Amino acid sequence: MTDAPSLLRTLAIETSCDETAVAVLDGEGRVEANELASQIMTHAPYGGVVPELASREHLKALPLLVRRASAAARSDVDLVAVTAGPGLVGALLVGVRFACAYAWAGRLPLVAVDHLHGHLVSPFLDLGGAPARPMPDRVLALVASGGHSSWYLLLDGEAQRLGRTRDDAAGESFDKVAQALGLPYPGGPVVDRLARRGDASAVSLPRPRIQGAPFDFSFSGLKSAAIRFIRDHDLGRTGADEPPREVCDLLASFELAVVDQLLAPAVALVDEYRPRIITASGGVAANTLLRSRLQTLGDGLGVEVLLPPVGLTTDNAAMIGRSGQLAHAGGSTADPRRLDARARRAWQPPGMRELSPVDGVR
Ligand code: KG4
Ligand code: ZN
Repeated sequence: MTDAPSLLRTLAIETSCDETAVAVLDGEGRVEANELASQIMTHAPYGGVVPELASREHLKALPLLVRRASAAARSDVDLVAVTAGPGLVGALLVGVRFACAYAWAGRLPLVAVDHLHGHLVSPFLDLGGAPARPMPDRVLALVASGGHSSWYLLLDGEAQRLGRTRDDAAGESFDKVAQALGLPYPGGPVVDRLARRGDASAVSLPRPRIQGAPFDFSFSGLKSAAIRFIRDHDLGRTGADEPPREVCDLLASFELAVVDQLLAPAVALVDEYRPRIITASGGVAANTLLRSRLQTLGDGLGVEVLLPPVGLTTDNAAMIGRSGQLAHAGGSTADPRRLDARARRAWQPPGMRELSPVDGVR
């Protein structure tokens, strides 16, 4: 087990992309407050996140969310956790400077959290008032979001990346295909909804594998084929309300191909690494088909599958709080006068290790 028995009540701040999020967790990882201000409407007209607008919205929302989360907490907080990267650097900086000032003014310890490590611990959290579940020592974890798609092995709390996308992230491919259809941003939730009405065998799409890297995958060929189909069939002005059957069929076929790609290495990974639990996290882990396919796969292999509550799949601060608690219990602290934001994971926070038996993986 990697968890210390009782950790500090934690205020957590997440501003890495387009959600301003603040949470409070008690010492056992119970989520006491989970505040979120989504910027989806701000960015929707641009079809993607506009970094400058994101920073400005974080600045506006953060003080209010911190006040609300603090009011919902059962007691004063003892630790501040903040996402320090990876993400949009201007957006991250808003959260980092705020957290530094908060910790400094309150003389509270501060811990810097890696956003991905937050996603990795999210399946162990509950939104119904239960304490966080302890993490066993061998977890096979899929993280699939708008910026990342990788398989990790969590071994004694350290994450080793085993496989990754060679091009687009899974969520990004959902977003791009939805955009090509004229559907609203972000694409994942609307694709999920429309795919339920379609026939997944209607459109044949490629599922390329990477030679010599059996745990890696690719989405760009698949995405391009779907976009070509949209152009060839003149489907570019679809609305989300009453889309033609052809669009639902394409989206069902596309969703299945993405899920197939993500899960293609799973059996070999289980075979090689013998995990105690398989998890999936990140925005794409909200996907209905991915959740049911992964559950079926785990049942077939006799390995427990643990998924985060749907409310904690996309970016949130509860996961940042839990990651921060575990890192702090492991001895990690940050200096509020010096902590900086990193756009990429250029540094390795404790608990994140980039080791891989797969050649060529950075
Ligand atoms: O984890 P997240 O909130 O942000 C990043 O760290 O990137 O993930 C956002 C991504 C978007 O690409 C969105 O389209 C996708 O998650 N997503 C979904 C679903 N809900 C969100 N993709 C597929 N099915 C969904 N239900
Ligand atoms: Zn994320």
